[in-house]
Order: sequence, then C-alpha cells, then structure tokens
Amino acid sequence: MKIFSKQKDTLDILAFPSEVVVEKGQYLIMNEGDKFMLAQVIDVSYADIPGILEDVLREVSLEVVSHENIFDPFETKSLMMMIKEVRVIRCKIRCIVEGGRVVHNSSWLPSRFRSDIYAARVDLLRNMMGLMGRRRVCIGTIGDEDFWVDAESFDGRLTIITGKKETGKSHITKLISTTLVDYGALVIVLDINGEYVNLNRKVDGSRSNLAVRHEVLEPGRNFRVRTEDVGLRTLMDILIHVYDTPSSSCREFFRIWNIVKKEKSRVTLRNLMDAIQRAQLHESVKEALMTRLMAMEATGIITDEGDDIPSFEDVVKYTGGKMIVVNLRDLLPSTRRMVVEYLLSKLTELLHVKRLPPVFLVAEEAHLYLRDTYWDDMITRMRHLGLSPIFVTNQPDSIPETIYRQADNIILFNFTNEADLEAIARTSRMDSESVKAIAASLPPRYCLLIGYLVKDIPVVVRVRDVDVETMGKTRLFFDMFDRQQIHIPRVLDEHIA
Ligand SMILES: Nc1ncnc2c1ncn2[C@@H]1O[C@H](COP(=O)(O)OP(=O)(O)O)[C@@H](O)[C@H]1O
Ligand SMILES: [Mg+2]
Repeated sequence: MKIFSKQKDTLDILAFPSEVVVEKGQYLIMNEGDKFMLAQVIDVSYADIPGILEDVLREVSLEVVSHENIFDPFETKSLMMMIKEVRVIRCKIRCIVEGGRVVHNSSWLPSRFRSDIYAARVDLLRNMMGLMGRRRVCIGTIGDEDFWVDAESFDGRLTIITGKKETGKSHITKLISTTLVDYGALVIVLDINGEYVNLNRKVDGSRSNLAVRHEVLEPGRNFRVRTEDVGLRTLMDILIHVYDTPSSSCREFFRIWNIVKKEKSRVTLRNLMDAIQRAQLHESVKEALMTRLMAMEATGIITDEGDDIPSFEDVVKYTGGKMIVVNLRDLLPSTRRMVVEYLLSKLTELLHVKRLPPVFLVAEEAHLYLRDTYWDDMITRMRHLGLSPIFVTNQPDSIPETIYRQADNIILFNFTNEADLEAIARTSRMDSESVKAIAASLPPRYCLLIGYLVKDIPVVVRVRDVDVETMGKTRLFFDMFDRQQIHIPRVLDEHIA
C-alpha cells in the first residue's frame, strides 16, 4: 500500500486487490519513525487511471477475437493488468500521534514512499481513546479482539441509539443497561414493547443474575398512585398536556383543588369530582373537568382505594443496582403519556431534593409518549439534576435536531434510507461523509460508536450476545400454532389435515 494523495482530512491510499483486506470503519496506521497517522477507512474504489476506458474496451474486444495471437515478447501484459486493477482506499484522518501523544495541530505527513501502512490493533485504539477501564461495558468485538467502553461515559451524558428496524438497537440497549445495573446503577426503562420485562430470565429459562435487581411496574396493576402523591402541579400538567384541557377549566381546577384541600382531610379523585359537581361553574367547564377526571380514574392508575399503595419514592428507592421497567405496552396512548408525565415530574422532584441518586433513563421510541417541551427539559434541567437519558429510535427524525446536537454518544446501526442518513450525518459529532459511507454498509448487529464514549475516534463494533431473555412478548400465530396453543375446531381440523 502507498499513500497517493491527501485533500483536507481525506487520504487516498493505493493498494493491490490482494492487499485490500480492510473493512469500512477499520483503522489504518501510516507509520514513520516515532510518528504515525491514524486514519479510518470509509470506502474502497477503483483507481482513476488515464485511458482506462480505452484499455477496458480493447480488452473486451480482444476477448471476443481470440487470445492466442497477441504478440507480447516482454510480457508487459501482466504488469499492465496489475496496474489496472489497483484500488483506492479512501480514509479519513482522525489524529496524528508524535512520540506517543496525540498532537492536534500537527502538520506532519507520513512519507509517500517510506511509511509503513498496516491495520491498527484494538489496544492501540483504546490507548488513543484514553479509556479508564475501571468499569467496563463490553460492547463486542472489533476484528477478533474484544472492545469495551467505560460505564462512566454514559453517566451524565445523553446517548442516542438509532438505526433501522431489527438491526440490534434494543439488544445493545439491554446489554448496556444490564451492565450499568451490575455496576450498581439505578436504571429506569420506559418499555413501549414490553421487551425488557423478561430480563430476569436467561435464555434457557433459569434466573439471570439480574433477577433480584429487576422490577417490573405494570401501570394500573402493581403501579398505582394516590391523587395526593400525584400532586396539584403534575395533575395540572396531565390535564393540560395529555388531555388538552382548556386553560379556563384548568384555572377552576386549581381553585377547586385548594378548596378540597382546605375542607377535607385528604384530596382524592372522588372528593375532587364531588366538589366540581357542587361548585358554581359553567356547565361546559364542569363537563370538561368531569370527563377528564373520569378518564383518569378509569385508567386505574390514579386511585385512592386500598392501603397497600406504596409511594413512588418507596418504589424507586435506591437499594443498590436495580432496573425498574415501566411496562407501557398495553396502554392507550393517552394513558401512556399520563404515566410518563407523572414519572418524569416525580423523578425531577426527587432528584431535585436529592432523595434519589442520579439515574439512567432508557426511553424507546420516546416521541410516542414524550411531549415536545420535555425534550429540551430533559437534556438541560433534568440532566443537571442527575438524569442520564438513553434514547432509542428507528426514526431518527422523531428526535428534534437540537437534541442530536447535544448528544454526547451516538450508537448508530444500519440505515439505508437516504433521508434518515442525512438527518444523522448532519448533526453527529463525526464528519457527514464518513457517517453516510459507513452506516449504509453496516451489517445487522454491527454498530458505529460515535462521540464521547470513544473520545471521538469512531469505531465499528460487532455487538456481542447477552445471556438474558431479550425477547418481547409478541404473540406469534405460527409459533402458537406449532406449540398447539391454538385449537382448531374439529370441522376445520379435517380440512387442514
Ligand atoms: N449482537 C447480537 N447478538 C445476538 N442476537 C442479537 C444481537 N443483536 C440483535 N440480536 C437479535 O436480533 C433481533 C433483533 O434485534 P433488536 O435489538 O430487537 O432490533 P431493533 O431493536 O433494532 O429492532 C432480536 O431477536 C435480538 O435478540
Ligand atoms: Mg427494538
């Protein structure tokens, strides 16, 4: 391999086909003396040789005529063939290292003729990234070497995991979050597909080591809250943002809450509804409030019956590493949003008064239940209070562009759709040409790590397997059919048989 040219941060290297064993995303080292350049392969193409079109045409024509009578006394043909087959490996220069130190403004260039070019090993990459290795999150392998990142890189940081469907986004999210729990972290998962509920089991059905640190909250069943625990502010937010209550009605609700609070020993949904019925209000306001409170009551989540309802603070109380999965799967969209509204406001409150250590919040397809104003809130205010969000989505444009710009870590899986690639490429912490070239050719289960977690030396990793039950609870027809869980009526039975 020889260096051919450099334009800005792009380096073109010439190589014979037999030398091109590189993969997109892999690193090459151009070494000379105690200095080297680290460059990432983004594409392999043909060399643009003058007159190549004419040569290829001649070759094609000769094949048609016959090979035998070509006169080549000095056997230049094979040499010419080799030259014509030369490939260009296009790389992006990531850094220059002089005497073991990364030098950012170095103007050094490796020699075209004397420099050695070879593939970079994983430990060298990790050294360049300056990873600590105290708490390792083993992501998978690069080539045949293990690759891990620091658990600390997710702490107080915004992580976005994206890629098209079925590429392994949820898988890596489970891998990262279970490892964080192993290190003693509190992870709260907003589980829209009900696929984190079985992480307490291994694939063979036995208990995984997460079993005692895994708790599933089923809203309306084992996750219910008292009206007073919800509080006036959150209830107002739910009325405004989830149920689109007109502001005039909300003002009346505010007044009525305070009246009930003064008159009764406890504020309950029933007390509030009674007070609304009795109050001197316009019928439309009464109607607006009553229907909404009744809808809330019907969800079974806000309830005042039973003495066994623990406060939310007790539920999330820190007792060592724990994963709390909030199963949003079978809920109506409005109920989902109500649960999330409550959860986030409660978390913010508890973090604010420091009754909760910093938490990691995993949110899949958050645009389905997160209201618009929460995005910014989450990455500014909540993040400072100690909430580290991990957003997972297969629709990159569902996350506002401003959020991407704030993202510290991006874990990118394959995208083939141009528009999706464009959305990511524009805003990530990596040049857009590389993002597009690499992401479009990632096989399933391979991801590109970008940003703080790899200290801006992006790498492609094959994600490892995990030994927990990562399956969701999707009911599949043929699966149930084969296990004879679907009973065919006798008459039909004969037809199918
Ligand atoms: N690195 C991996 N090793 C083993 N299985 C994986 C890996 N990545 C994904 N899978 C499996 O592939 C399927 C799709 O992955 P999933 O994470 O659910 O995709 P996504 O969330 O991107 O739609 C799942 O059954 C998952 O268990
Ligand atoms: Mg998924």
